[in-house]
Amino acid sequence: MTPLNNGWIIRLLFISILMLHVSCDREAEVEVTYDENLINQHMDAEVTFQERYRPQYHYTPRINWMNDPNGLVYYEGKYHLFHQYNPFGNTWGYMSWNHAVSEDLVHWEHRPVAIPYGKEEEEGIFSGGALVDHNNTSGFGDGTRAPLIAVYTSHYTRPDGSTWQAQSLAYSIDGGETFTKYEGNPVLEYEDPDFRDPNVMWDEKTEQWVMVVALPQQHKVQFYASDNLKEWEFLSDFGPAGAVGGIWECPDLFPLAVDGDPNNIRWVLHVDMNPGAIAGGSGSQYFIGEWTGTEFIADETISDGEVIWGDYGTDFYAAITWTDIPEEDGRRMWVGWMNNWNYANEIPTHPWRSAMSIPRSIHLITIDDEIKVIQRPVEELQVLRDSHVSLNNSEISGARSLAGEGISGKAYEILVELDPGDSETVGLKLRAGDDEETLVGYDAVNGTVFVDRTHSGQDDFNDGFAQRNDAPARLIDGKVKLHIFVDWSSVEVFVNDGEAVITNRIFPDPESSDVILFSEGGNAGLAGLDFWSLKSIWN
Ligand code: FRU
Repeated sequence: MTPLNNGWIIRLLFISILMLHVSCDREAEVEVTYDENLINQHMDAEVTFQERYRPQYHYTPRINWMNDPNGLVYYEGKYHLFHQYNPFGNTWGYMSWNHAVSEDLVHWEHRPVAIPYGKEEEEGIFSGGALVDHNNTSGFGDGTRAPLIAVYTSHYTRPDGSTWQAQSLAYSIDGGETFTKYEGNPVLEYEDPDFRDPNVMWDEKTEQWVMVVALPQQHKVQFYASDNLKEWEFLSDFGPAGAVGGIWECPDLFPLAVDGDPNNIRWVLHVDMNPGAIAGGSGSQYFIGEWTGTEFIADETISDGEVIWGDYGTDFYAAITWTDIPEEDGRRMWVGWMNNWNYANEIPTHPWRSAMSIPRSIHLITIDDEIKVIQRPVEELQVLRDSHVSLNNSEISGARSLAGEGISGKAYEILVELDPGDSETVGLKLRAGDDEETLVGYDAVNGTVFVDRTHSGQDDFNDGFAQRNDAPARLIDGKVKLHIFVDWSSVEVFVNDGEAVITNRIFPDPESSDVILFSEGGNAGLAGLDFWSLKSIWN
């Protein structure tokens, strides 16, 4: 072969590699159509979990589009995570419930689609909850084990293209692997075509099932009661209240012990809103109050129009809590969808799209005479901790790369205490590399903790993506504590043991792995820092 031929071969090879790359990037644009044979194609799709931006310890489906967590339930020793899913493509459509299970809340096993899109009735399986019917009140049980019941929204499309929504049931007697739709569906209808996202709990006080469900356009949730899950009686509604700039979705109502005191129970009503949340687009808000057995009464301290945000970042939405967690555990835990409807369909990941947040436990804590919802990463995550580096007290003045001290990477956890001293800003530059970095720090001028992703990496897919988000933060003994979780395409910051949380997606170059400690406008102090690289859950 002449040298010229060799050159062409190399060029051809180069062009074909380039074309392969382009076709991968365009995969998301391929038209998505219903094909019954492909419903479970995710189970044996070839994926490496090493793809660009693939989270290493956050749940993602193997392939295709995901949104809200659904039917979080603990059943027969396993945590179940169902979620909104398009079995056929990497954008929203053909809503089905996909399924994953875990024994430790950390490692997830992908399972077949649990409730697929109903082609006959053009029924989208929208969001909802799941419960264990211990006493077989529904009659769906077969006498061998308690049935696992999904309560979801049927999103029907009529032949003329118009849609309406109602609440439906499906039950499983094989551990959540397959579900049978109740022949009497839907079990609850209402005059508003937008009526969705039911969550059902067993109310100890009245000894009946209670459903909370959203009327998105009316900024209301409604409460219904039932003895058998099939017939529902209207109890009351709540709202408009708090943030009403967008529609209300995915409500959840649950009790929590204030400061861990079982004799002081308050109720949390969590209702999400889209768009118009604190960081733009979709976001999480909650109310604290009393559940009387028939209605939710928000505490008076929440004056009209006041909003309590559940997360100050852009990417925490549609969180619901696990039901049926054993009493001896007693925790209330959730995950949220780590994405935002502002750009959800555009984020640059394939062959899957969207991730769940890390699982968090939720607590009510009194701070300065006010009861607040606190979120903490679940302790189970500590099994992922790998190499560990500790830094002692030191002064922070200007910028100092920590790579030489063994602190760098793409998936890690940092626990840091900062004393702002006379600086204006003090913090860390994460996933730092050529011309990019994600800033996490304390802003002493405004008294906030912030995540700044304005130069965090790829952001050309959406105009509003490059932004900074701030959360109010107090200094405790002159210091602020940050617990930070970084993954291949996200950062979650827990401020002062969870008093505020900021959850953001970022899309840094895989080479960007530096961690830089910095202060601006003066000197600050590092009171202590612990760093752990985190193992992947997908090995
Ligand atoms: C929230 C939501 C829900 C709905 C689901 C549809 O993200 O809009 O209200 O049930 O997504 O996929």
